[in-house]
Amino acid sequence: MLDIRTHERSELLARNVMQRQVADVDEATATALARYYARQPAPPGVPGDPARMARGKALYERGSENRAACATCHGVRAEGFGIFPRLAGQHAVYLQYQLRVKQHDVRRTSVMHGMIGDLGSDDMIDLAAYLASLP
Ligand code: HEC
Repeated sequence: MLDIRTHERSELLARNVMQRQVADVDEATATALARYYARQPAPPGVPGDPARMARGKALYERGSENRAACATCHGVRAEGFGIFPRLAGQHAVYLQYQLRVKQHDVRRTSVMHGMIGDLGSDDMIDLAAYLASLP
């Protein structure tokens, strides 16, 4: 929220949709909102295409020559921790969108950008299918 408010984060949807919504959200309000959302129960996960989920799981767990496995930072079950966001149960469309935005360096994202340079479009769909299925 704070990055969107200060325009540090300004990819298309952040700019066109969210910046106006958070324009007057101060730090105390952002903290209160974050605590509220962090307390909500995790979503159950929505299974997708089995072949895509299997490929996504392998990509998530193994990494490659050029990048650490996603699980190293986001957790074995994509549960997230501290600054590493939870990915489990997130909507597949949102995950794909964020991976594209980060790969093109539109969303200021020094850590993630280096991690996903070698992912193709199908890899992103596979990863999103797997992550969206996790409870
Ligand atoms: C070295 C640690 C690290 C690794 C490895 C890593 N990430 Fe991340 N990721 C982060 C951090 C930190 C953030 C939060 C900051 C940001 O958005 O860039 C993040 C953010 C994200 C987001 C945005 C979440 C949201 O709610 O907007 C997605 C999606 C994501 N990572 C997917 C992945 C996938 C898929 C992989 C493996 C291909 C991966 N990450 C590997 C550290 C990592």
